[in-house]
Amino acid sequence: MAGTVWWKRGTVYQVYPRSFQDTDADGIGDLPGITARLEHLAWLGVDAVWISPIYPSPMADYGYDVSDYCGIDPLFGTLADFDALVAEAHRRRLKVILDFVPNHSAITHPWFAESRASRTNPRRDWYIWRDPAPDGGPPNNWLSNFGGPAWTLDPATGQYYYHAFLKEQPDLNWRNPAVRTAMHDALRFWLERGVDGFRVDVIWHLMKDAGFQDNPANPDFSPEQPEINRFAQVYSADRPEVLDVIAEMRAVLRPYGERVLIGEIYLPMERLMAYYGPDLSGADMPFNFQLIQTPWSAEAVSDLVENYEAALPDGGWPNWVLGNHDQPRIAARVGANQARIAAMLLLTLRGTPTLYYGDEIGLAHVPIPADRVRDPWERNEPGHGRDPERTPMQWDGEVHAGFSTVEPWLPLSDDAAARNVDALRDDPTSILTLYRRLLALRREHAALSVGAYRGIATEAADVFAYERFGDDGAFRILLNFGGASHTLALPADETWTVLLSTRGHRGGDGAVASIALGPDEGLILQKC
Ligand code: GLC
Repeated sequence: MAGTVWWKRGTVYQVYPRSFQDTDADGIGDLPGITARLEHLAWLGVDAVWISPIYPSPMADYGYDVSDYCGIDPLFGTLADFDALVAEAHRRRLKVILDFVPNHSAITHPWFAESRASRTNPRRDWYIWRDPAPDGGPPNNWLSNFGGPAWTLDPATGQYYYHAFLKEQPDLNWRNPAVRTAMHDALRFWLERGVDGFRVDVIWHLMKDAGFQDNPANPDFSPEQPEINRFAQVYSADRPEVLDVIAEMRAVLRPYGERVLIGEIYLPMERLMAYYGPDLSGADMPFNFQLIQTPWSAEAVSDLVENYEAALPDGGWPNWVLGNHDQPRIAARVGANQARIAAMLLLTLRGTPTLYYGDEIGLAHVPIPADRVRDPWERNEPGHGRDPERTPMQWDGEVHAGFSTVEPWLPLSDDAAARNVDALRDDPTSILTLYRRLLALRREHAALSVGAYRGIATEAADVFAYERFGDDGAFRILLNFGGASHTLALPADETWTVLLSTRGHRGGDGAVASIALGPDEGLILQKC
């Protein structure tokens, strides 16, 4: 394993900073809170923390609207707090990954104030301005990802500006070299402060069609889908020129050594692979959200893994994600029993896993009363909101689950008194213990992180089986996606022992010739 870069061996843990730990009694998490809880990450056994945006922001999209790319929002703390966080993380051998939001700024960013000041302002071209259509309406049919048109008229200068998200999030013009330079400087600002990499927000959006052509209708659209799906995003995103922009970002990171560039990309598999870039000049890891988008069955997931492995470019490093701050939680999607299968899958596939805070305690869907809705998307398009997956981390049985001393900005789960780190950490059968054991095994055995992958046919349609192997041995993973038991044969000329069950340790199995797999059970076997 020596010689393998950290982000290939390691695991990433995403923190949504508003919801991790509040230290100043405002019901919202902050940087000193993350620092105070790094002990949990070290104990759990992850290698890097990715922190969703902490920059100054009017918070129209909770930090994904940045008004200063080189600062910290007072809600979260100060630059000194940030430096302390990085120092403490590094002391604990944890890497720090920042969220970088280059596609759009906040509407309150001084650059936008200048840009909208007049048509001749030197920063006019830092954003995307177009004349109205002949009827006075928007320049084309592009829609906002949060519903409604993606163009807003600025009456003072008589032009529309483009925003792929809220009208409070104007898109920057990445065709303008001055924008690129300013953004590269922002990356360097954080690299100099010691950050180990970036997760780049909506990276596939950075370049739009130069001719601003209308997007074609999407024949598969149905009204329960978000409005953005009415059209295929052919011209408004995923333009080939974006690969040059990403290669330039990579070049900014290169002199700093082992830093990682992760790209947020929601695209079908073939297009996703393009983001590794020619000669791997693109994102080190284009985020792979396929486990979120694939039906939860042994057959579908097994096909997905085969297809993904086969589609990777030469040398392209795989990665896997089960959830994030934009997606319903894994335990809400597949249920508590299968959430354990999902954990074992995530942490035994080839490639870098990204964990989402709270999944390790099995947090599921937290219902949000109408008067506590925060996500602007929920207000625009009810039913699509993301608050249920952004609720506070639950640490202990104290008031507000140890997250805050005051009412948190979003509610806790009803079962917070029992579903918290303190209550689960010493329970050998808890999902938290399972996550910790999986992470420990992954660290102990290089075959499980950087080893090879091979799918294995089984006689049970509900079971997904595969092998991970390398210099330090071979491991067989058996995942039962169904509610029936199965007895599975093992190769007659080999001996295997059980290392771990999703139900807790299964000691004493010794060497076995066949293996009984319980309902919803996952096992890791080791070859003797
Ligand atoms: C990304 C973020 C999401 C945000 C959007 C706009 O998809 O993950 O939370 O709303 O970009 O920045």
